[in-house]
Amino acid sequence: MKHDIWFNGKLIPYDEANIHVLSHVIHYGTSVFEGIRCYQTERGSGVFRLPEHIRRLIDSAKIYRMAPPYDVDALQAATLQTITNSGLAACYIRPVVFRGTGSLGVNPLKNVIETFIAVWEWGAYLGPEALEEGVDVKVASWSRMAPNTFPAMAKAGGNYLNAGLVKMDAVLNGYEEGIMLSVDGYVAEGSGENLFLVRDGVLYTAPTSLSILPGITRDSIIQIARDRGYTVEEKQIPREALYIADELFFTGTAAEVTPIRSVDKYKIGTGRRGPITHELQEAFFDIVQRGNDPYGWLTPVPAPAASPAVEEVA
Ligand SMILES: Cc1ncc(COP(=O)(O)O)c(C=O)c1O
Repeated sequence: MKHDIWFNGKLIPYDEANIHVLSHVIHYGTSVFEGIRCYQTERGSGVFRLPEHIRRLIDSAKIYRMAPPYDVDALQAATLQTITNSGLAACYIRPVVFRGTGSLGVNPLKNVIETFIAVWEWGAYLGPEALEEGVDVKVASWSRMAPNTFPAMAKAGGNYLNAGLVKMDAVLNGYEEGIMLSVDGYVAEGSGENLFLVRDGVLYTAPTSLSILPGITRDSIIQIARDRGYTVEEKQIPREALYIADELFFTGTAAEVTPIRSVDKYKIGTGRRGPITHELQEAFFDIVQRGNDPYGWLTPVPAPAASPAVEEVA
């Protein structure tokens, strides 16, 4: 279904949301974006951690000196308006800030800054059975960018050239996903997910100093796990620790909480979703599917305005 797109301040039809081929973003990847989910819970539709996602968008834009002319409140309101207008009870939301036309040099400072928000229906990213059975992954032959090359905390379009290489390398070799190592060889993250390792009941995940994207699902799982009494350590994880982990799982807006059942053909744990992964996954789905939201992470989506009553003709 083609849903209206919020483009530079107003909703326009899907087919009219076009940009010029000489937009800076086409040539140099100058965009920043977010991926957000709106869930249909048993208590109505809610957007998961909307303020945090919009804040990360604004932060990403600031890092690239491309602040949009909208603040957090305006972009949150625009997101909710776009969802309500679509009539979708659950959807994936993609806000993008990019450099448009102006100059075609590398210097983007004279190019206009444009903003849009699109929504569409989207199911489980790595397949519905992956949430139970787990996925087969490989360590990628491409590394995550080194610090001081690209700012990894910015969710920028250009970063995903690297992620795309990782994903293609995985898929073409028969795996669902690739795990990137840092330039020093420590475990960083998946092409579009953060990664957690469980060993002897303790959770480990890479620190942000290893050029990972500071995931909002990662942050949520850290909070949920700690509140359930687990120790979660952000530390450097050597590659071989993956092979001897009791459990491994990905987190991300798209992947949600997806177990990993093998890495480089090493079976992880019992070769299917482990008990701690299951517990944290259940706790996560209790919030986003059932709407039991002790953290206040869901922003309710307003219902569409009622259409004017049609007068009955006697
Ligand atoms: C490279 C990368 N790491 C991690 C994540 C997970 O982040 P989040 O949980 O905020 O979606 C994503 C997805 O946005 C990503 O693209």
